[in-house]
Amino acid sequence: GPIMAEEAKKLAAYAAVDNHVQNNQAVGVGSGSTIVYAVDRLAERVRQEKLNIVCVPTSFQARQLILQHGLSLSDLDRHPELDVAIDGADEVDARLTLIKGGGGCLTQEKIVAGCAKHFVVIADYRKDSKALGQQWKKGVPIEVIPMAHVPVGRTIVRRFGGVANLRMAVSKAGPVVTDNCNFILDWKFDGARDWTEVNTAIKMIPGVVETGLFVGMADRAYFGMEDGSV
Ligand code: A5P
Repeated sequence: GPIMAEEAKKLAAYAAVDNHVQNNQAVGVGSGSTIVYAVDRLAERVRQEKLNIVCVPTSFQARQLILQHGLSLSDLDRHPELDVAIDGADEVDARLTLIKGGGGCLTQEKIVAGCAKHFVVIADYRKDSKALGQQWKKGVPIEVIPMAHVPVGRTIVRRFGGVANLRMAVSKAGPVVTDNCNFILDWKFDGARDWTEVNTAIKMIPGVVETGLFVGMADRAYFGMEDGSV
């Protein structure tokens, strides 16, 4: 029968690690639930094949994963050029434009992806998107300097429509605080956009740290499909 999303994530993650990671590489490690399978496979291959790999994390979570798996932890000071970065995504369209930041780690994810020769996305079939921002109505996450969250939100809504909601924590009263001590606005809207233009325009608003739009960055996407193929 059809496979579940978790199995699909695993299939995509294993295929990406098997096809894109080789000995003596520096690897960027993304965040989220799909990357967990990629780190499992990476650790397995490092053990079995005695690979010499260093890992650069994109978040506190990724750092923990690297350490828990006994992989060698590095950073962009020591490895500013990565051979490959592997990461999940919230949505991926046909041109490999991504929405990321469902887990709030978009800024470091974009920095690490930008340092990699190859940026490979891993996802289950639900992330394959015809129209970005519409499918799950989660919108585009935008990391902002805390004191600027109101003016930034108002500017985005005035210029591009929709709503910009401050992301609130679930098990604490108050906003989500990112790994960089900033806030997240979730911008939700109707209709298609020119993502290159929107990404550039939002980044230019004072107080915006980064957007969850990844335009022209991904080289390849692996989707685990419902029929068990990748
Ligand atoms: C983290 O901020 C996000 O960009 C994740 O990479 C993205 O949400 C993918 O997560 P899942 O693998 O859990 O879908």
